[in-house]
Amino acid sequence: MRKAASSALRSCLLTAATASILLCGGTALAGIELSPVMSSWSQNLRKLDGMLSGRTEYDAAKVGESLKAYIADASRVAENLHGTSNSVRNFRDRFAAFAAEGRRALATAADPAGFRRNLHRMVGQCQSCHAAYN
Ligand code: HEC
Repeated sequence: MRKAASSALRSCLLTAATASILLCGGTALAGIELSPVMSSWSQNLRKLDGMLSGRTEYDAAKVGESLKAYIADASRVAENLHGTSNSVRNFRDRFAAFAAEGRRALATAADPAGFRRNLHRMVGQCQSCHAAYN
C-alpha cells in the first residue's frame, strides 16, 4: 500500500520535471522541477565534501552560501507541494525537515567539526528520502 502510494507519487514527480503545473490525483505540484534542484544539491555536496576532506580549503562563507541554497530550495519545494494525502504530507515534511537541518548546520558553518556532524545528518536525510521515494 505504502509502496504503491510512493511509486504513484514518484511518477507524478517525474512528470513534474517537465510540467510547470501538474495536477496529479488531486495533488498540485506547482512549478516544481525536482531534477535540477537535486543536481545542484549533489554538486553542492561535492563542494562541501571537498572542503571537509581537505581537497579544497575550508571556507565558512562558501559553506554558508551552499547551506542557504539548500534551505531556500527545500523551503520552496515544501511550500509548493500541495495536497493532503499522507504521502504528499510526508514528502513535504521531509523537505521542511531538510530546511530545518540546513539552518542548524548554518549556525555551525564557522566550525568545521560541528559542521561535519550536521552535514552528516543532512546526508542521512538525502538518503532516507531517496530510500522512501526513489
Ligand atoms: C525530501 C526528499 C528528498 C531529499 C531530502 C533529497 N532528495 Fe534527492 N531526490 C528526491 C527525489 C524524489 C528524486 C527523484 C527526482 C526525479 O527523478 O525527478 C531525487 C533525485 C536525486 C538525484 C538524481 C537527480 C536527477 O534527476 O538527475 C540526485 C543526484 C539527488 N536526488 C541528490 C540529492 C542530495 C545530494 C540530497 C541531499 C543534499 C538529496 N537529493 C535530498 C528526493 C529527495
